[in-house]
Amino acid sequence: MQFDTPATTNPIDQLKVVGQPIHRIDGQLKTTGLAMYAYEWHDAKVPYAYGYPVGAAVAKGRIKSMDVSAAKKAPGVIAVVTAPEVGERKKGKFNTAKLFGGDEIQHYHQAIAVVVAETFEQARAAAALVKVGYAEEKGAFDLREAKDSAVKPDESQQPDSAAGDFDAAFRTAPITFDETYTTPDQSHAMMEPHASIAAWDGDELTVWTSSQMIDWWRSDLATTLDVEKEKIHLMSPFIGGGFGGKLFLRADAVLAAFGAKAAKRPVKVALPRPFMMNNTTHRPATIQRIRIGAERDGKITAIAHESWSGDLKGGQLETAVNQTRLLYAGANRMTAMRLATLDLPEGNAMRAPGEAPGLMALEIAIDEMAEKLGLDPVQFRIINDTQVDPEKPERPFSHRDLVGCLKLGSERFGWSARGRPGSKREGNWLIGIGVAAAFRNNLLLPSGARVRLAREGVVTVETDMTDIGTGSYTIIAQTAAEMMGVTVDKVAVRLGDSRFPVSAGSGGQFGGNCSTAGVYAACVKLREAIAQKLGFNSEDVVFENGEVRSGNRSVSLAQAAGAEGLVGEDTIQWGKLSETHQQSTFGAHFVEVGVDVATGETRIRRMLAVCAAGRILNPITARSQVIGAMTMGAGGALSEELAVDARRGFFVNHDLAGYEVPVHADIPHQDVIFMDETDPMSSPMKAKGVGELGLCGVSAAIANAIYNATGVRVRHYPITIDKLI
Ligand code: MOS
Repeated sequence: MQFDTPATTNPIDQLKVVGQPIHRIDGQLKTTGLAMYAYEWHDAKVPYAYGYPVGAAVAKGRIKSMDVSAAKKAPGVIAVVTAPEVGERKKGKFNTAKLFGGDEIQHYHQAIAVVVAETFEQARAAAALVKVGYAEEKGAFDLREAKDSAVKPDESQQPDSAAGDFDAAFRTAPITFDETYTTPDQSHAMMEPHASIAAWDGDELTVWTSSQMIDWWRSDLATTLDVEKEKIHLMSPFIGGGFGGKLFLRADAVLAAFGAKAAKRPVKVALPRPFMMNNTTHRPATIQRIRIGAERDGKITAIAHESWSGDLKGGQLETAVNQTRLLYAGANRMTAMRLATLDLPEGNAMRAPGEAPGLMALEIAIDEMAEKLGLDPVQFRIINDTQVDPEKPERPFSHRDLVGCLKLGSERFGWSARGRPGSKREGNWLIGIGVAAAFRNNLLLPSGARVRLAREGVVTVETDMTDIGTGSYTIIAQTAAEMMGVTVDKVAVRLGDSRFPVSAGSGGQFGGNCSTAGVYAACVKLREAIAQKLGFNSEDVVFENGEVRSGNRSVSLAQAAGAEGLVGEDTIQWGKLSETHQQSTFGAHFVEVGVDVATGETRIRRMLAVCAAGRILNPITARSQVIGAMTMGAGGALSEELAVDARRGFFVNHDLAGYEVPVHADIPHQDVIFMDETDPMSSPMKAKGVGELGLCGVSAAIANAIYNATGVRVRHYPITIDKLI
């Protein structure tokens, strides 16, 4: 189905099932331990072996020698596979650093061997016996030092944008502002580490893994192993968090495949926690300079956002200026991003790549500029709202209610009680409140599904869509139930299997809208097939209460299915609507903090997010996405930072003791309000994403609340106590 005109009324609008706050249909499987995560697949008849990775102990250079003789003789060892013996492999399309093979070392903990043994403990013990000689080379590890060597990457990364004449407008603006902010390297640090089981049957490979994007992984695994894609069967039905760290094929799947080939047995490989920080990807650190010029009444006349980040050679920008291209009005503007070569582990997408760190800077800058102008920060944002793409005014937003979010949030949060910086105190606590806008683009990827109606009237949906803890199973079941006129318990959802139609996958907060739109398209096909089989007029056919009706005839779905059942399969494709209209999601974050006047400790006291993100397909799962994201934003504001060893080139704090993510005690009561809206330009579902929107702006709202509490402006994340006292 090609979606190229705004959605009109369709069966989804009934909202009998879609939009209802139902609990996740996979919840019971998860809470009872029956949901099988990648490493847990087990068949008593299968003689699994266990692989343990060996990572490079230098950040850059070559392997001169590898002695695996002691490891091979260690108890229980079945095989040792080394990178030099595997040799240089083709790299997957989505990987910057190679995952395994050859003697070049591109970053610390790059996989250089896998030891396979009868037990996990034996593999781990033997891995410690592998002796490696390196020819170490000098690398660049410090973004601040490398900043001046940063270059403009090729146009495919869209490094620059401009409209009007920023320099002239900034020079002549009556009020100007110019500050620089930094955000650190961050780790996805999801609960479930990267893990895979690989099993060969002749030249056919089956992989149970933990992947956000089944088809990307399958393609890249085929390239890396040099086998035909069709010979690989990939499964990832349950995933313990991804946050972007599982968007792209990772070393665990490759090592398991090589290990299984060598051991001639199915092999399980989980990356140990330290490998998650240094072997996989991370969100790159940024340095961001923001300049704003405004009239005395608060109208922005000039805005510039420049960002510097680093990555391995051939890598990518952290697109931290993206939101500044779209969020506020202003006739004269420029953005620019520059990329330094760093020999740290690969930088890549982490939840709301670009916007999350970009708003950490921009939304402090907006707070600072409001203060300079003597304006309330909510008011300043409202004054500079725009209903069109400010760089291309001929492109309106499909739907944009940032102002609504700010107004409703102010009212609900009690914004009017905000005092002057440092003016509120309760005992030892300085109290402050802060606000930030939330913005994240709405991306569209094709998404396919197959829907089957079986004899019993049961509807089964199959798509390679993944559920990374987000609620995909549930909203897909709701979509199929609404379309086919059945209750959710009559729908079975099967996800995360490369035998199913290729979906959008889970990423960029596009998964919810795109995958359900794909299910919608497949259901339209199934409805047509049913109507045709029954000889019903497709104009007046109604699917309701487990029946299909036309005129005065009605047939139960069970009966309509017949003995063989019926199938509908389709893929939603996106037409030109996203070219003519800018599609984005909006929100406002409000936070109250207390800062201990003696120790500088910040405690978050209240959080509220108001989100304008199209139709909300399920308010429970959507809320869970947003409060999870707000929690991540609290970590980003106050504690999360990968500490770079700039001498040796690795992330030092490579576990959850050193890389501090918030725990329950750090997070207060959180409120989420969804604006009641639909976006007919976004899809037949009229929905958009919220999973990343919930993170965008939170950290800045916390920073602004800390400023309001203390009068101390911190521009370098995380805002730890040493920066406050
Ligand atoms: Mo997201 S960083 O695209 O999983």
